[in-house]
Amino acid sequence: MPKTLTQAQPAFAQTMVAWQRRHGRQNLPWQNTREPYRVWLSEIMLQQTQVSTVLDYYARFLQNFPDVAALAAASQDQVMGLWSGLGYYSRARNLHQCAKDVVSRFGGQFPSTAAELITLPGIGRSTAAAIAAFCFSERVAILDGNVKRVLTRVLAYEADLSVAAHEKALWILAEALLPTQGLKAAMPRYTQAVMDLGATLCLPKKPACAQCPVQHLCQGFAQGEPERMPVKTRKLKRSSHALWLLWAVNSKGQVWLEKRADTGIWAGLYCLPVWPSHAELTSALPSAAKQNLLAPWKHVLTHKDLHLHPVKVRLQGTPKFLSAQGQGRWWSAQEWPALGLPAPVRQLLSA
Ligand code: ADE
Repeated sequence: MPKTLTQAQPAFAQTMVAWQRRHGRQNLPWQNTREPYRVWLSEIMLQQTQVSTVLDYYARFLQNFPDVAALAAASQDQVMGLWSGLGYYSRARNLHQCAKDVVSRFGGQFPSTAAELITLPGIGRSTAAAIAAFCFSERVAILDGNVKRVLTRVLAYEADLSVAAHEKALWILAEALLPTQGLKAAMPRYTQAVMDLGATLCLPKKPACAQCPVQHLCQGFAQGEPERMPVKTRKLKRSSHALWLLWAVNSKGQVWLEKRADTGIWAGLYCLPVWPSHAELTSALPSAAKQNLLAPWKHVLTHKDLHLHPVKVRLQGTPKFLSAQGQGRWWSAQEWPALGLPAPVRQLLSA
């Protein structure tokens, strides 16, 4: 039988730290730095996006905005343009606002504690802890999706994480497992270790328990079927929406794009005009306009399936119904690629 949690601690943290040194990921571009700007930027990008996708975006952001003051001084369009394709665009708006707040509230220096970091836009409890642990060696726990999987298995924690009280209790257990000695070096290393174990061995379906450094401490392994954990009964409710996209092209070959409102789907991005049904799109068009209905396709977001129906039309001049919406204009093929566009709209226009 594995030892109980209290007996196992601090062996858990020490074993994780030693494993990270030998087997963890060492050379990601946001590692080997304690600069909060770089760590923060990576953590926001990595919140809902895989490492392999983030690498290019991360490099381009740093090239364009080498520090938090440069990002704060950028225009929203510039930030959204560089973020375009990463998805979850509220992250980009919060990122920009956070940079401005760091400048206005903290004189351009990120604060050094998780308690202060969490007051900034887009920085939740786990992200605040990751920045504070990586940059300032604060003894605080992270608990993102990967880490929940590792810890619920090690602890054989079977309580339903859909229940807020159970999730809260897991945070307290996560804190109890943190290193207790040599925190300056141990906190960044341990934090990376729990992330790395979740990303590389303690996988959702087929955990590689045979290679796991803490198998001997893992109560989930001892009980058999560690993949039972984490338990989360309340599933995301998925919804399904049809969107009719007007792909209007004028006689110069320019395309009409309008900036979307600051809330809702694709908030703040440039997009083809959208209607909820074919009938509504048709009634907005001049009756003489010849519609070319392109093949529809499904675009999957976390909470929704979007059924996209592009309709291509050639227009002479700018019909009133387009200019009446206020936020749009014609964009040439030299201009639109630099805009922040939803990924499926970019794909459509580039095809
Ligand atoms: N996911 C979230 N933070 C990460 C990090 N620092 N390294 C790798 N993957 C991560």
